[in-house]
Amino acid sequence: MRLGVLVSGRGSNLEAILRAGLEVVLVVSNRPGVRALEVAARHAVPTRLLPRADFGDAAECDRAIAAALTDAGAELAVLAGYDRLLRPTYFAAFHGRTINVHPSLLPAHGGAGMLGTAVHRSVLAAGDPETGVTIHEVTPELDAGPILAQARLPVLPGDDVESLAARVLAEEHRLLVATLRELTDADRLAPARP
Ligand code: GRF
Repeated sequence: MRLGVLVSGRGSNLEAILRAGLEVVLVVSNRPGVRALEVAARHAVPTRLLPRADFGDAAECDRAIAAALTDAGAELAVLAGYDRLLRPTYFAAFHGRTINVHPSLLPAHGGAGMLGTAVHRSVLAAGDPETGVTIHEVTPELDAGPILAQARLPVLPGDDVESLAARVLAEEHRLLVATLRELTDADRLAPARP
């Protein structure tokens, strides 16, 4: 299964996908100069820089992202640290599935503002005994699409944002690759479409 990966920053999930040997045909970034673009270059994966500021509006930008994925032959798109909501124009123009990795047990600690360390701060502030990782289908509503896989992790006594973030990130890499492998196998085993 040919993957397109959307990124905005560090690119560690992209790196996990590439190190696992999965086929990435395009990396799209909305931000220039981010580490994720270096990761793509190191693995000789084509990249496109498609920042919102280059388009009239978000709808137009998201249509262009979908067109870039389609042109590259991507069958499944992965949001791997992509920090923007995708508009309906994206879903109208890209016919493959789109999945996201989120560093909490959705629906807990998802939605507006729940990015990066804010998620782990929220888990610690709530006193939750456990946290985890969610892989879900992406829909136009933030963090609300059907859940494909979750992994649970205990919040340990003495955990702070950094220690929690590090353990959750390692689990993200593992679960994302495992889920992509399952989706790839399911695709391979599915009866050929007419
Ligand atoms: C990850 O925690 C992911 O769950 C969230 O953004 C972060 C991206 O990290 N959506 P990286 O860019 O893959 O290193």
